[in-house]
Amino acid sequence: MAPSVQIYFLPLVLFALFPIKTTSTSHHHHHNHIKSLHFALYQHETINKTGYIIVNGVAGPGTSQTTTPFGTLFAFEDPMTVTANRSSKVLAIAEGTSITSGLDGLRSISIAKITLRLKHHSGSISIVGGTHNIKPSDHPVVGGTGDFIFVQGYVRSSPVNLKGLTVTYKIEFHLYWPPFATQLHASVN
Ligand SMILES: *[C@@H]1O[C@H](CO)[C@@H](O)[C@H](O)[C@H]1NC(C)=O
Ligand SMILES: *[C@@H]1O[C@H](CO)[C@@H](O)[C@H](O)[C@H]1NC(C)=O
Repeated sequence: MAPSVQIYFLPLVLFALFPIKTTSTSHHHHHNHIKSLHFALYQHETINKTGYIIVNGVAGPGTSQTTTPFGTLFAFEDPMTVTANRSSKVLAIAEGTSITSGLDGLRSISIAKITLRLKHHSGSISIVGGTHNIKPSDHPVVGGTGDFIFVQGYVRSSPVNLKGLTVTYKIEFHLYWPPFATQLHASVN
């Protein structure tokens, strides 16, 4: 969700903090009529293949290990897989853009649509929020479509592997359906 060029060369200490999980777990809750879904996928971004700098920034630090110039506009269409292995099953696509918003070159605003094809749910969620290049970032879920209509919650993006041309992030989803959404769903089915 962050421009990969920015976090591309981050220190590997982050890798130790967010070890690769070999399985994706998903669980459902139905407490007090609040339905929720919790699972993780892995987003793979390949510079100049699934993610590109569209507009160069204008001020602040240059493109470096952790920074991009203020105003840099980055766009991506990244696959999201079940495990950290790029060859594992693709369950989602993340399409979005991110703009460097910190004059220190370390922060950006990201917006994305994540199209999900899970076993029992398909549709999309839209997220928006701030990303810090060297820290895990939470992005609010502002809504959804299909089986995710009216969904809220957040996704947490953490770097997993920042070596090489393809970088990988773990994306943890915490999705909640408000009571009226589950009632609506029940009434239209
Ligand atoms: C990506 O493409 C741009 C523009 O052609 C180029 O300047 C840059 O070096 C490329 N980056 C990588 C990592 O290949
Ligand atoms: C990734 O998955 C492919 C296909 O299942 C497998 O051949 C390869 O060994 C895996 N790579 C790693 C690093 O586990």
